[in-house]
Amino acid sequence: MLENLPIVEGDPLWALLGQFQADQREHKIDLLVGVYRDETGKTPVMQVVQNAEKKLAEEAESKVYKMLSGHLEFNDHVAKFLLGESKKLASQCTIQTVGGTGALRVVGDLVAKLSPNAVIWNTDPGYLNHRPIMEAAGLTVKTFRWGHKDGVLDLESCFADLKEAKEGDILLLHGSCHNPTGVDPTLAQWQQFADFCKAQKLVPFIDIAYQGFGDSPDADAAGLRLLAEQMDLVLVAASCSKNMGLYCERTGVAMVITKDTSQHVPLRTLLERITRGNYSVPPNHGAAVANLLFSDPTPWLAELTVYRERVRNLREALGEALSAIGAPASLQVITQQKGMFSLLPLSIQQMDLLKEKHAIYGMQNGRINIAGLQQSEVAYLANALVDVLQ
Ligand SMILES: Cc1ncc(COP(=O)(O)O)c(C=O)c1O
Repeated sequence: MLENLPIVEGDPLWALLGQFQADQREHKIDLLVGVYRDETGKTPVMQVVQNAEKKLAEEAESKVYKMLSGHLEFNDHVAKFLLGESKKLASQCTIQTVGGTGALRVVGDLVAKLSPNAVIWNTDPGYLNHRPIMEAAGLTVKTFRWGHKDGVLDLESCFADLKEAKEGDILLLHGSCHNPTGVDPTLAQWQQFADFCKAQKLVPFIDIAYQGFGDSPDADAAGLRLLAEQMDLVLVAASCSKNMGLYCERTGVAMVITKDTSQHVPLRTLLERITRGNYSVPPNHGAAVANLLFSDPTPWLAELTVYRERVRNLREALGEALSAIGAPASLQVITQQKGMFSLLPLSIQQMDLLKEKHAIYGMQNGRINIAGLQQSEVAYLANALVDVLQ
């Protein structure tokens, strides 16, 4: 068997991280991994999570298996967080998954079972893991451009590429804080996506991994809620990794919103069959923590607001620093973008130069994690960006 072992290219992110760690320059800056960092460069465990973990440890309830759908109360809470107090809550069928990645795969497996010829339409640029997940589920992936004009999503190019999509294809959109561009649709543009899906008979699939990192938890779910109100079928993959800082606890949900709720029983059974054939039941700890946070959301939302504002302040400071040194407009749009990521308008060679000459590490495609920055590094980064662009 092992004589057939292929030489598989490693993940470029981890290779760059290795280079960063080996770099001896004291002023080096890591803008690589998509995790929140505080002003000291740490990714802390939220205070509310620490409190919840103490409570769970004291209660030491039981480690007995939960249901195949996972932690049912947690699922109900996430559904409310995603959809708000909407009558559409009755239309969703939700199961707990192994993080947002697990949710993407479970939904991919569901599509592959029910509609194997459906193409997944993915943004370009997009989240690097979408294609391998969907292809591993046996689905075909095609892309449409996700560009912007002066910071506003260029819908014309999206729809020009999506003209090729056929009835039943899946339109995979990021709920908020698009990874890697930080360019999100306006509410009017979400309506245009809804109209397009209705006209072309496409199924929207919303990957929402950063709810609360853009404008607010409700505003960041506005696009999803609009689609849920208007469409007969919406697929959702949601993650608690970022907005609760539960990364390694692998906490998320897969949700299907249907017009006909009589489909929920067979749908749930099929979703459970899919997970049973993979990892059986999802891990409980993250969902138990998240459940406590959702039960008394005020302190959690206050901590999340601090996170969101730190990232927003960094964006603003970077925008001001760029404007002060007369940086081109293509760099200054960073202030209009949402969430942790921005995609710099730099070539692979310019990203290499940023690393070699200035010890600033971003992804080769130009993605940087704004949250990896400290206020004291903003001016240095702005000058380095202008330098490599020249
Ligand atoms: C757009 C997007 N979707 C999904 C995920 C997966 O999240 P999780 O860590 O919960 O698997 C990420 C994580 O970076 C992401 O950026």
